[in-house]
Amino acid sequence: MHTWRVEANECLAPRFYRLVLVSRRSAGGAAPGQFYMVRVGRGTDPLLPRPLAVYGMEARGGGARLTFVYEVIGRGTGILREKAPGDEVEALGPLGRGFAWHRPERPYARVIMVAGGIGLVPFLLLGRRLTEAGLPALYLYGARTHREVVLVEDFRALGVGMRVYTEDGSLGEKGLVTAGLTAALADGTAAPEDTLVCACGPWGMLEATATVAREAGAPCQGSPERRMACGMGACLSCVVRRSPGCAGDGGIEGVRTDTGGQTGAPGTRTGDAEPNAAGRADDGPPDAKPTSTTGIKGDPWLRTCQEGPVFATEEIDWEAERGGA
Ligand SMILES: Cc1cc2nc3c(=O)[nH]c(=O)nc-3n(C[C@H](O)[C@H](O)[C@H](O)COP(=O)(O)OP(=O)(O)OC[C@H]3O[C@@H](n4cnc5c(N)ncnc54)[C@H](O)[C@@H]3O)c2cc1C
Ligand code: FES
Repeated sequence: MHTWRVEANECLAPRFYRLVLVSRRSAGGAAPGQFYMVRVGRGTDPLLPRPLAVYGMEARGGGARLTFVYEVIGRGTGILREKAPGDEVEALGPLGRGFAWHRPERPYARVIMVAGGIGLVPFLLLGRRLTEAGLPALYLYGARTHREVVLVEDFRALGVGMRVYTEDGSLGEKGLVTAGLTAALADGTAAPEDTLVCACGPWGMLEATATVAREAGAPCQGSPERRMACGMGACLSCVVRRSPGCAGDGGIEGVRTDTGGQTGAPGTRTGDAEPNAAGRADDGPPDAKPTSTTGIKGDPWLRTCQEGPVFATEEIDWEAERGGA
């Protein structure tokens, strides 16, 4: 764990906050989709850190500036909301494997980012990388209502195409973001097989996105929501079922060849990651899961914190997850 100082913790909309942390210590870089385990309280209350994806990360002087965006949903994020400038927060990361948008053998012609609610977080960094690489990108953002639409200006400033969808039609187009994906994949900008779909959001939205992409013939990567206890691959609280037809060896090896020149390439760990005592829960134990998860070939489970959080969506057994995740 590394200690950061709170520079700002501002309310963006009811329940949505942006937390800016600074450190005199350099933190390296973060790949889009990587996350930190953030210790929200002092001591052991609550004991477990909470996973938060990286929204922004930049060098500042000899140190670093790290930005998270979070939705207050329970005790941990409720405590985080109370942090004030000058407070200290411990965080471990960046962890996991991010989106693999670089396909050397046949570069993608376009990337479509599909965000549901707070699932927008990894896409500012991804959008920035895509813009720097000159790769055409489209950002599709879905929320229930205009009150939950945040940070649109940040994405507009990136210069990527953007469409907003609300379920009640109070902002942007009325409907689900997956309808936007269906239309975008058919708009003739690039062949679906050369269009990478990157998705992050609630489980149902992620599955629907994977289905739309598969039916159109577009490769798709997604970052599913999972509860995490350790973030280090030890406790198995975060596993997802691997598709029986997928004989990979964890994560999206074979699809992913690097993370676009960023840190956090497959199999590497960046930042200040270090082993911790894992597998114990403070406020409710992690779900009981089989103890066979290793990420090795043939294993039926994938650890979100280790082989993910970003997976090729065909690696996930959606049907089994729906039945009893
Ligand atoms: C890799 C990763 C990156 C994430 N990035 C972000 C982010 O950038 N911003 C953000 O706001 N959130 C993010 N989350 C979700 C965030 O970690 C949870 O919302 C947070 O841990 C909730 O903690 P809490 O103590 O407030 O809620 P709790 O009191 O622990 O839980 C409240 C309710 O939410 C459910 N819940 C808690 N965590 C999750 C979860 N991960 N998935 C599904 N249901 C859950 C619980 O079952 C419970 O019903 C991320 C999760 C993962 C796995
Ligand atoms: S959170 Fe412990 S193994 Fe993933």
